[in-house]
Amino acid sequence: MRVAVTRRIPEVGIRTLIDAGADVYIWPESFPPTREQLIAFAQGVDALLTLLTEHIDGALLDALPTVRVISNMAVGYDNIDVAACTERGVVVCTTPDVLTDTTADFAFALMLAVARQLKPATEAVLRGEWRTWEPLGFLGHDVSGATLGIVGFGRIGQAVARRARGFNMTVLYTDRDPQPAAEHETGAQYVSLDILLQQSDFVSLHVPLTPETRHLISAPELSMMKPTAVLINTARGPIVDTNALVRALQERQIWGAALDVTDPEPLPPNHPLLQCPNVLVTPHIASASEVTRARMAELAAQNILAVLRGEKPPRAVNWEDVRGQLQQHH
Ligand code: DGY
Repeated sequence: MRVAVTRRIPEVGIRTLIDAGADVYIWPESFPPTREQLIAFAQGVDALLTLLTEHIDGALLDALPTVRVISNMAVGYDNIDVAACTERGVVVCTTPDVLTDTTADFAFALMLAVARQLKPATEAVLRGEWRTWEPLGFLGHDVSGATLGIVGFGRIGQAVARRARGFNMTVLYTDRDPQPAAEHETGAQYVSLDILLQQSDFVSLHVPLTPETRHLISAPELSMMKPTAVLINTARGPIVDTNALVRALQERQIWGAALDVTDPEPLPPNHPLLQCPNVLVTPHIASASEVTRARMAELAAQNILAVLRGEKPPRAVNWEDVRGQLQQHH
C-alpha cells in the first residue's frame, strides 16, 4: 500500500497508515503542492490523502492511474469531481461527524464575537484606548433571546440549533425538505429561505457548496435581511456573493458578518471586505481543535485502509457506485 499525503497532518493519521503496513509519502511544504507537483509526487501510489486545497478532477486522476481512493480530510468535498472519480472506479471518502461539534462551537463563537464587538473592543484595549467605563461604548446586539436562521439543517446546522436552545433563541431553519425528527429534537421551525432572511437576527450558513448553493446569498437575499442582522459563514466562501456582501455592509443593509470561509480564499489583506464595518474574518479554522483535527486525520487514514483492503470504508460518498469495479481489482 502506497499512500501520498498532501500536507503534514496530525500524527495519528500517519501512524494509523504506517501501523497497517503502508508506505507513506508526506508532502513536506507548508503550501499545498501545485497540480504538477502533486502529479510528480504521487506517481505510483494507491491512495491520496487530500485536503480541501487540492483540486481533484479527471485529468489529475488520468495522470495518476494507480490511485484507487481519494480520502479528503474534510466533511466538504467540493474540491473533488466525484463523477470523474466514479467513472474511473476511484472511491471518494470524507470525514464527517467527527468535526460537527467543533464546527458548531465555532459558528457560535463567531456569532457572539460579532454581536458583542469583541474584535474592535480588544483592538481598542491594545491601542491603550481603555480609559474609563463607557455607557455608550461598543454597544452590540444580544444573542440571548434573538432569532437564529440556519440555512442547511444537516449535522452541523442541527448542532448549532442545539446550542441555540441554551441561549433561549428562536430557531428557524431552511433546507430542501422539512426534517420533522430534527425539528422535534431541536425545537427549530422550518421556513422558506425568504422568511428566514426576513425574520432572523443571525443567519448561519451550513449547506455544502454545489452548483445550486453557489451565491445562494447574493444581493436580493442580503436586501431581505434586517439592518440589524449578522451573517455567519462557516460552510464555504462561494455560497456568498462577496461583492454583494461588501456592498450590503458598506451601505449598512446588514449590521455585520463573521466569516470563517471566504471567496477568494485566502482573502488578501487589502481586500475591501476587510475594510467593511463589523466584519470578522478567520482563516478557515472552524474544525481546528487538537482533538477534532486528530480524529479527522485518523478517519481519513481508516477510510484509505478499508478501501485498499477491499472493504467498505467508514465514510465514502460513492462507495455503492464503485464497489463493483473495485472488487474486480482485488
Ligand atoms: C471541512 O471539513 O469541510 C472543513 O471546511 C474543514 O474542516
